[in-house]
Amino acid sequence: MTIKTNFDALWITERNGSYEKKIKQSSISELPAGDVLIRVKYSSVNYKDALSASGNKGVTKKFPHVPGIDAAGVVVQSNNDAFAEGDEVIVTGFDLGMNTWGGFGEYIRVPAAWVTPLPKGLSLQEAMAYGTAGLTAGLSVLEVVDSEISPEAGPVIVSGATGGVGSIAALLLNQLGYKVVVISGKKDDDFLLGTLGASEVVSREAFIEKHDAKPIAKPVFAAGIDTVSGLILSGMLKATQYGGVVTCCGMVASPKLQTSIFPFILRGVKLAGIDSVQAPMPLRQKVWQLLAADWKPENLQQIVTEINLQALPGVLETILHGNAKGRYVLKHAD
Ligand SMILES: NC(=O)c1ccc[n+]([C@@H]2O[C@H](COP(=O)([O-])OP(=O)(O)OC[C@H]3O[C@@H](n4cnc5c(N)ncnc54)[C@H](OP(=O)(O)O)[C@@H]3O)[C@@H](O)[C@H]2O)c1
Repeated sequence: MTIKTNFDALWITERNGSYEKKIKQSSISELPAGDVLIRVKYSSVNYKDALSASGNKGVTKKFPHVPGIDAAGVVVQSNNDAFAEGDEVIVTGFDLGMNTWGGFGEYIRVPAAWVTPLPKGLSLQEAMAYGTAGLTAGLSVLEVVDSEISPEAGPVIVSGATGGVGSIAALLLNQLGYKVVVISGKKDDDFLLGTLGASEVVSREAFIEKHDAKPIAKPVFAAGIDTVSGLILSGMLKATQYGGVVTCCGMVASPKLQTSIFPFILRGVKLAGIDSVQAPMPLRQKVWQLLAADWKPENLQQIVTEINLQALPGVLETILHGNAKGRYVLKHAD
């Protein structure tokens, strides 16, 4: 397979404390050392990418930097027996796009331990329609399923519903036959009730007022999938039925959780932390298989906006300011 001498990448550069996003011609020699060189066909845009691109030092310590925590593409060189030229692969999480050059460039070079073979039933584009958001949503839904909470047990509540993780979690739950109630800051019934198939939409403020006002609330949800934390996560815990589970993965609303002990000691509610970044390879592969086959929603593409590298800086701003809707898939030039 021919390797381009020069290719495009989105670079974030620090200048006097502010951060500029610029598409620059780059070369293979600039990539970090690694086992597997991959021609990236698609990447996707996540909240963490927006943080990296805005100079958040908790995500990326050193600039200039090429972000992109997700990549799907074709192996062009490998010094590891597990991968050969021409293999279609996915890389998400680990250090990709954080302090290691990421998927916003047309090539990446990474350790073999970060690489997942593309599962049968999934295209490279579909893998990035899911991306880190989909893997995280899949891990969250797996907690609900593994806790033996059936669709008959009651509705599942999902927060940050128009965001990447929230929208895919709602689609997956719907596909598995669960009734889904969503929390959203946006008034977009076509998307939330129509595309995502939610049975009810609750505003963030109404949810907090109804379910977080007291140390424990009426138990109305069988489970919860939270992506924002703060008072919304607290309210979810308080409104979960006996033996239910609430998953948490993000902190868009707050990095803090202040709640009461009662859901845990009176109802045996479990709080399950979700991490897709360091998730072990067998677990990752299990979830990717489910996403590629039994759990794959028919209308996955309806939540996808495909963009090119030129549109990426604007999308990063949209996501940073909480105005994202669904998934943004970056298609690199052929
Ligand atoms: N632990 C992990 O492995 C892992 C993996 C992936 C993501 N995450 C984290 O999960 C979170 C969601 O990620 P994402 O990629 O889905 O982000 P995203 O696409 O930006 O979606 C976040 C959504 O949260 C809602 N939101 C925004 N600001 C809010 C606020 N102030 N209060 C309450 N809700 C707010 C919005 O939805 P509505 O307008 O519909 O409410 C927004 O679309 C992030 O914190 C991310 O870092 C963690």
